Amino acid sequence: MHFTLRQFRVFEAVASRLSFTQAAKALHLSQPAVSMQVKLMEEQVGLPLFEQIGKQIYLTEAGQEIYHYSRAIGQLLSEAEEVINELKGAHRGRLTISVASTANYFVPTLLGIFHERFPDVTVSLDVTNRETLLKQLEENEVDLVVMGQPPKEMNLEAGAFMDNPLVVIAPPDHPLAQEKNIPMSRMEDEVFLTRERGSGTRSAVERFFNQHGVQLNTGMEIASNEAIKQSVQAGLGLGLLSRDTLEMELALNKLVILDVEDFPILRHWYVMHRKGKRLSTVAQAFKQFLLEEANTLLHDKPVQQP
Ligand code: PGA
Repeated sequence: MHFTLRQFRVFEAVASRLSFTQAAKALHLSQPAVSMQVKLMEEQVGLPLFEQIGKQIYLTEAGQEIYHYSRAIGQLLSEAEEVINELKGAHRGRLTISVASTANYFVPTLLGIFHERFPDVTVSLDVTNRETLLKQLEENEVDLVVMGQPPKEMNLEAGAFMDNPLVVIAPPDHPLAQEKNIPMSRMEDEVFLTRERGSGTRSAVERFFNQHGVQLNTGMEIASNEAIKQSVQAGLGLGLLSRDTLEMELALNKLVILDVEDFPILRHWYVMHRKGKRLSTVAQAFKQFLLEEANTLLHDKPVQQP
């Protein structure tokens, strides 16, 4: 099989958008030019890469395989670019990071400070849940990932840089709001609004309730920290969220943290990448920045290693 890099780029543009028209627009090419490149690739492969059902196009099995490799090639090319930048001794280039939805509450502040120091770095930031982050690590799609507890089954290099306590939240007029040292078993009488499956917060909470032999009654499953906070304020149930998501609501007294025995659930934020990954100078600098400075910048105290 002989493909040109140009063909890979065109194919990737179509495969990621599942649209010839949008790919052509993004690449500033005509649609026939895009179709022609894909056709040439299909001739090389000897199998169709896309199929059309109605108005929608889909990747065929062969298309999915080629897509997998074309993304890996794209990542290697940008790594090559970073290495060359490194040889030139520059802190410039692209930093591709993915962070857990909950880390979105503090990562932008840190990126702001990092950007002041290294204005020539272009940052590409994706915010998603734990399950997707693990996939991105596995596919080597990102330089660094920020999330809670690293999974044991993956070969990762992970460093803790900040505490991530999970707390029980309620509206200020909740009957338990004034109580002290509420027994954990009392939580069985409450309804909780929990994050979606795949969320790190959700799995930590489930594990914690299990360990304490306390049943977790889920009233509603909500795939957003913001929507959980709004729903708790509206009196739909209690919430279990990272303390990092609550700064504004606590300051404005829209929500309170309940004083429940054995809480908070003690977790940490980690910066991680696959073991053996060749980090660019920029990625290396950002990793070091998180490990050495994030906690002091955000909470004014050094990190306690777990
Ligand atoms: P989230 O949090 O997936 O619940 O946003 C990430 C984590 O704690 O790992």
